[in-house]
This record gives sequence, structure tokens and C-alpha cells, in this order.
Amino acid sequence: MKKDILQVLQQFSPIPIQESMLERPVHTHLGDLALPCFPFAKELRKSPVVIAEELAQAINHPLILKAQAMGGYVNIFVNRSEITRFLLQTIHKQSTSYGSNNDGNGGVVTIDLSSPNIAKPFSMGHLRSTVIGNSIALLLEKNGFNTVKINYIGDWGTQFGKLLTAYRKWGSEQEVQQAPIQTLLGLYIRFHEEAELDDSLNEQGRAAFKALEDGDTEALALWKWFKSASLKEFQRIYDLLGITFDSYNGEAYYNDKMEPVVNELANKGLLVESDGALVVELDEDMPPCLIKKSDGATLYATRDLSAAIDRKTTYNFVKSLYVVGNEQSFHFTQVKQVLGKLGYDWADTIEHIPFGLILKDGKKMSTRKGKIVLLEEVLNDAIALAQKNIEEKNPNLLNKEAIALAIGVGAIIFSDLKQHRKHDIEFNLATMLQTEGETGPYVQYACARAHAVLRKADDTTTFTVDEVNDFEWEIVKTLEQFPQVIKRAADHADPSFIAKYAVDLAQAFNSFYGNVQVLSDANHLTYRIALISCTATVLKEALRLLGMAAPEEM
Ligand code: ARG
Repeated sequence: MKKDILQVLQQFSPIPIQESMLERPVHTHLGDLALPCFPFAKELRKSPVVIAEELAQAINHPLILKAQAMGGYVNIFVNRSEITRFLLQTIHKQSTSYGSNNDGNGGVVTIDLSSPNIAKPFSMGHLRSTVIGNSIALLLEKNGFNTVKINYIGDWGTQFGKLLTAYRKWGSEQEVQQAPIQTLLGLYIRFHEEAELDDSLNEQGRAAFKALEDGDTEALALWKWFKSASLKEFQRIYDLLGITFDSYNGEAYYNDKMEPVVNELANKGLLVESDGALVVELDEDMPPCLIKKSDGATLYATRDLSAAIDRKTTYNFVKSLYVVGNEQSFHFTQVKQVLGKLGYDWADTIEHIPFGLILKDGKKMSTRKGKIVLLEEVLNDAIALAQKNIEEKNPNLLNKEAIALAIGVGAIIFSDLKQHRKHDIEFNLATMLQTEGETGPYVQYACARAHAVLRKADDTTTFTVDEVNDFEWEIVKTLEQFPQVIKRAADHADPSFIAKYAVDLAQAFNSFYGNVQVLSDANHLTYRIALISCTATVLKEALRLLGMAAPEEM
């Protein structure tokens, strides 16, 4: 609307108007938009008051109902009916593609997300990475990019030598089969406890990893088993979240692809020896990046370097995102700098997308010894709570289980995405499942409520708009902002813009719903049904962009 009105104003203004000059008055009696004329005074050699009066006089256009001069401002009252009619027709026509744009021009963006470590529980941090990364991918697609979601599984490194050693000493095949991750985690913890007393264990662990790296059949078979059992457990979580990946190439995939990178570093004169290890020296105030330990073992950074180069070769990305917690910022700065030193100009297109912690009562929800928060349990608790709420409020609902899944999982996703991702977030199941306040169920309910009305009336594309009341106008103004919000969210790689928008639209809809008798007023019925149908479309699309379902009945 702002853009359209701006175009109209340009036709009548003696000098160009910048879009940023158009203000939205706080009070509706001052109009929908206001143009301050003070900046024009110097050039026009007239007082702002006179300029405003002349401009208000001159304006004459079907989109503008009234232009009123007031103390140096032109207050503009737009033609609500005209704007509403046009917008509703647009949304009707474009349906779920309303708000899409082609800013990305088909360019590929790789998104490194989720990336849990095998033989360890799927942590709250991995949950954040999964839902934030997934939503960013959906947003980028909506902005015309092609995305590749890469689950860079943590399945390599010296810790697997320790795990193999621990399993051989104390493990039981049956236990691993029954509860793989829990058992393997227990073995890993025991290894560390016993290694405190017996240092020779560490040596055995290192040797075991060396054997694994060199392709020892027995070690490899065990490792493969641990990995597939872990992935099976992770898959249950991804199924609940409804999230899929385009690639599962993790750290182990790069085991035989690091040597060329190490050689390239050496050939370009970047490798320096330091206490027997090989490092790349970085810019001032950054410690060197460790490439090879003194025993020849490669590191996390070595694998990320070869993965980054491999991704560039495979996908020729325009941008490469890494959705990983704040605490790894340092690591990604190092990797980027090394790639830059190798002469890759695309190093600049690598971007770490950091996020904060999930807190429980102000403390980190962690996977520390003895206090493991099993994510699958958390998700199932949310679903069970949603189911309980349904039993209380709407026991005759069909498909209760599917709906409880959508609400329970949606509540967790929404509570994560509604805040700026860099912030730490407090985790409280009861709060996030409430149907009031800024919650997932609140937005989902608004959407279901819209569908309930639509079920009672015929949706139609032919309608006339002769009057738009304040409740309706609030919805229209919000619907109209969707395309800009989509751009902003993608530009900042931040789904919270969409989550906040969804709450705004749900609020506008709910106050309309609570104040306007839709079905009993035949005069405005077709237009209001069109308005409700467009609201449902946009709410559902906003939820989809967050990775959430929008049940039509709740
Ligand atoms: N597996 C790692 C962890 O759990 C996260 C991997 C992030 N991605 C990457 N390319 N380094 O901490």
C-alpha cells in the first residue's frame, strides 16, 4: 500500500518523495499515512504549512479518499474499499504463492543444520539448529533461492577411538541394541572416569581411532553399527518434527578427502609447524587454526575445510550457511579465514548463523552427566499435553492424534522461533502450549477458527467491498505486509519476523471475529468470507514457513 500511495503522491508533488518519508500515524483519525513537508521547505522556498496545503489540494486519485493538510503534514486517508478489493483479489489469485518473490534468482544456498553427534543424545542445541535451519530453508525457497539442507552428522574424531575401546572392554551387544544412544553414552562417560585412574586407556583410545582411520575392518564394522543405530534414533525425532534433509554427508564422509586440502595448504605455504602440530596462522587477535595434531590426526576444522570446498564444487552455492550455536562462532571465523587465505573469494559467502541456548529455569538444559534431557521425550510430552487439552476441550474431534502432534510439535517450534535466534530462550512446556499469548497454538487456533467459519459459508471470488470497518482494515493492513516481512526474514535469516507476523495477523483476526457478526449479516457476507479465506491462506502459509502444520479443526 505504501508503495502504491507513494506512486500516487509523486504524481502531484513538485519534488520527489522518498518512501522512507511516509509515516504511519499512531492515531487513525490522523489518516493511514502522513507526509511531513518540512524537508521540502528549503528547496521550494515556502513554509511547510503552505506546501502541505497546496499538495493536499492537488491530490486527486481513486486510491485516496481524502488528503488533509495539518500543520505541515499531509494526512492521507486511503480508499479502504479499493485497496481491500485489490488485495483480496491478489491473494485469492496467488493463493499460497502470495508473498513469494524471485530475489534469489534460483541461486543455490547450502544450509548446514541439525548435525547431531552419533552415540550422543540429540541435544536441545541440535533441536534449535534443526528448526531454525529448516525455517530458513523454507524462507529462502519462498524468496526464489534453491536450498540444499545438509545434516553434517558428527560421526568422526578421536572420541570414537575412546568409544570403541570402552565398548570392547565393558560393552554388551544386547544393551546397545536395546538402547543404543543411552548405552553408548554410558560407555563414553565410563571411559573418561576410568581414564582418570588409568592413563593407558587414552593411549588405547588413540590407537583405536588410528585403526579406524586406516580402515581396520572390525573397528569400521563397530563404528558403522553405532552410527546406523544412532541415526535410527535421530530419525524418530525428525519424523515427529516432519523435517527431511537433502544430504547426510557428515564428518566421516570427509575422512579420505582431507589430504588434498592439507596438501593445498602446504603448497600455498600456509602450513606452519607449531609444537609438532601443523597450523595455519591467522589475522591478528585470532589464534592459529589447528590442521593436524602432532600424531597426525586431523581435526574438526580440517574436516570443515574440506567439506566447505566440496560443497562449493558440488553445488556452486551463492551462499553457504551454518546454523550452529553461538559457542562455535570462533571456529567458523577460523574456517572462513583459512579459506580466504587459500585464495577462495567465495569464503565471503560463508555465513555462520548463530543462536542462543535453551534454558530451563534460567539454566542451560544440557546433556551433562546424569542429567540428560532426552529430546524425544520432550517432544512426546508436548504431544501428550496437547492431547490432554483436546480431551478436555473438544473430545469429539476427529483425528485427535494427528492434531495433537501438530499442536504439540508446533508449540515447541513456535516458542523457539518467535524470539530473535541469538537470544537464549526459556523452555516451559505448559506456557508454550497455552492457547492465549504469543504461542503456536494461539496462531493455529485462529487459523482453525477461520476454517470453522468458512465451512459454514461458500467461499467465493466474486464480492464487492463497499465499506471496510476498523477491524477489517487492521486485517487488510496486516495481510498487505506479508511480502515485505518475508523479505526481511530472509535477509536477516531470522524466522522470528514470521512468527511475530503470524501473531499480529492472528490477533487482528481474533478481534475482528470477536466483534463482527459475520454470518448473520447478509449484506457483507461474501466480502467478509473472502477476507477470512485470505486470512486463513496467509496464516497457514506463515505457519508453513516456520515448519508448522495448521490443522483446520482443533
Ligand atoms: N556436530 C557438531 C556439534 O554437535 C555441529 C556441526 C556443525 N556443522 C559444522 N559444519 N561444523 O557440535
